Amino acid sequence: MPISPLFYLLDSVDSTNNYAMARVHAGMAKSGMTWFAVEQSSGKGQRGKLWESEPGKNIAMSMVLEPKQFNLSEQFFLSAVIAIACFEFFSAYAGDETRIKWPNDLYWRDRKAGGILIENVFQGKDWKYAIAGIGININQVRYGIDLKNTVSLKQITGKDFDPISLGEGLCALILAKLEELGQNPIEKTIEAYNQHLFGLNEVVKLKKGNRVFETLIKGVSSAGRLVTVDESEREFEFGEVEWV
Ligand code: BTN
Repeated sequence: MPISPLFYLLDSVDSTNNYAMARVHAGMAKSGMTWFAVEQSSGKGQRGKLWESEPGKNIAMSMVLEPKQFNLSEQFFLSAVIAIACFEFFSAYAGDETRIKWPNDLYWRDRKAGGILIENVFQGKDWKYAIAGIGININQVRYGIDLKNTVSLKQITGKDFDPISLGEGLCALILAKLEELGQNPIEKTIEAYNQHLFGLNEVVKLKKGNRVFETLIKGVSSAGRLVTVDESEREFEFGEVEWV
């Protein structure tokens, strides 16, 4: 059911990312089209994990983007812009303890409020489509045992919200941010991203393989690598280290 020309509501679907991807492959998607699900039966998270979200309580949506103006080396730019838009949207309600946890988790204090899963379609060297899947906890207050570290807007503010209209507003913000930040050199976007970075200038624990180590977060590079310093300065790719 279309709500506005580009924002569609699905009652139930396996994953809005899968749905959007199927529309892309069927040649039936264009940039900006977004599918919002009331319920996802197999929501997908980062690193092959399941994304759990209580039906009707939260934002679970996927936006199709055609990143024509970007080249493949700018994949982190798109991820950063979407993270900044989610940060701006969430902090407007939740306040200044909101952060972006590298690479693109939305945090409030030390609890996860949302996440982003971007899946791409390439054709040769061309980056044809990005499916930006966004899950943000809005009204949920109870979570499974594995999700103790989770928080929603309702838990932060004590208020209920309308996840669908918030989702629609967030879509507009993402498109506006892409337009605005796309005009500037990538460094400007990375600077904005780093201003909201979780753990910036703090000593944190990271895990690489079996080894846990302490290191100071210096920021994120334009290529999207986490820059840290302890005995020496190092840069880590997403997937190379885990937060502990
Ligand atoms: C993460 O693990 O932090 C990323 C979570 C992304 C979840 C969203 S919910 C809407 C979209 N559809 C999915 O199946 N996943 C993303």
